[in-house]
This record gives sequence, C-alpha cells and structure tokens, in this order.
Amino acid sequence: MKTSISFLSSNNPPRDLKLLNETDTDFIHLDIMDGKFVKNKTMPFREMKNIYKYTNKRLDVHLMVSEPEKYIENYSTLNTEYITIHLEIIGDINKYIQMIKSYGIKAGIAIKPNTNVRDIVPYLPYIDLILVMSVEPGEGGQEFISGSDDKIREIRKLLEEYNINDVVVSVDGGVNDKTIEYCRDCDIVVSGSYIINSDNFQEKIDTLR
Ligand code: DX5
Ligand code: ZN
Repeated sequence: MKTSISFLSSNNPPRDLKLLNETDTDFIHLDIMDGKFVKNKTMPFREMKNIYKYTNKRLDVHLMVSEPEKYIENYSTLNTEYITIHLEIIGDINKYIQMIKSYGIKAGIAIKPNTNVRDIVPYLPYIDLILVMSVEPGEGGQEFISGSDDKIREIRKLLEEYNINDVVVSVDGGVNDKTIEYCRDCDIVVSGSYIINSDNFQEKIDTLR
C-alpha cells in the first residue's frame, strides 16, 4: 500500500515537511482549498510553492476548488505526480483533465461521499487516479465515514467492468491504524492528522502499510 501524507492539520508545515521528508512515504498530499468549493481556504500558491525547500517527495495535489484552471498551471510546476480535481464542480471536466495532462502530470478525479460512483464512468479512459473521499472535503481530523469501503469496492468493480487496469484508487479522510482495515482495496491511502499529530511519523506510516 502506498501512502500520501497530508500536512493540512500541521501548525508548523516547515518542521513537519522536513520530518516527512525523512520517512519513506511515497507522496506528500497537498490539499488546496479556495473558500468556495469548500468553506476553508489554504495559503496562496506564492507561499505553497516554498514546499520545495522542505521536501523532495513527489506531490499528490488535491484541488478542492471550483475553478481548477486558476491552479493547474501553477501546481504543475512543482514536483507533482498527480493533480486531482473534484467531479462535483461545475465546468468541463474533460477540459481540466486535458489541461493537467498537457503539463505532463497524471490526472485524478475525486468524489465526495454522496456522489454516485457511476458518474465517473465517462472519464475512466482519460484519468490515472480516483480519489474516494471518506469524509466531506474541507478539513482534516474528521472521522472516517463508514461504508466508504463499499464505495471503494464499487469502484474496483466498475474498473473491472470497463476493463481498465491502469487507474489507481486512493482514499482520503479519517485514515488511521483502525480505519486502514477498510482501505485494503486501495492502492494509495491519504492520511493527515493521524500522522501529523503523532511524535513518530515513520512508526505511524508503518501501521498503514
Ligand atoms: C479533507 C482533506 C484530507 C485531509 C486528510 O478535506 O482532503 O486530505 O486533510 O486529513 P485526515 O487524515 O486528518 O482526515
Ligand atoms: Zn485531500
């Protein structure tokens, strides 16, 4: 199981990013919020881009924003593996997927807990990652919504049904050493507060693998 660690709940990002850089996490999960798609707002790009000073891990960028076109180009200039947009935004999803790919970055689609997984079908041939939200997007430290494991399994079935083998499935929200048992059908788990609020990041990451 690959891990992607979110520092959204950190009150000292430079310190925690340096510590995460010393772990074997596969990715750093970068949560971006615009105050529109979700209530909260994260720091602007000119501050966020300083991340390169503290980590050389690949980035997994989660855009919780209504207008991805304002963010994609900027975030593609970092050490970025994936840029993920939300299926629920109003706008041309295909256009955004193409935009992400035009910068040579892998494209992901995130779905909120109440979104029907079948709504993702038209985009399956064009994406690299599906991010299953196991909390309502907007803040760290929430509880894993039970039944998210069924959703992950539904997505696996969908991928089989459409004969797609090259899309990775990721889960985001409330993942810890207890809820990890519901995430076994994923390829990548995102975890934030469980890791960041601990005093030994590597030890906690090991419990998720
Ligand atoms: C929620 C974010 C998550 C979150 C994960 O809106 O997308 O990435 O920060 O943090 P925990 O693991 O604390 O739920
Ligand atoms: Zn996230």
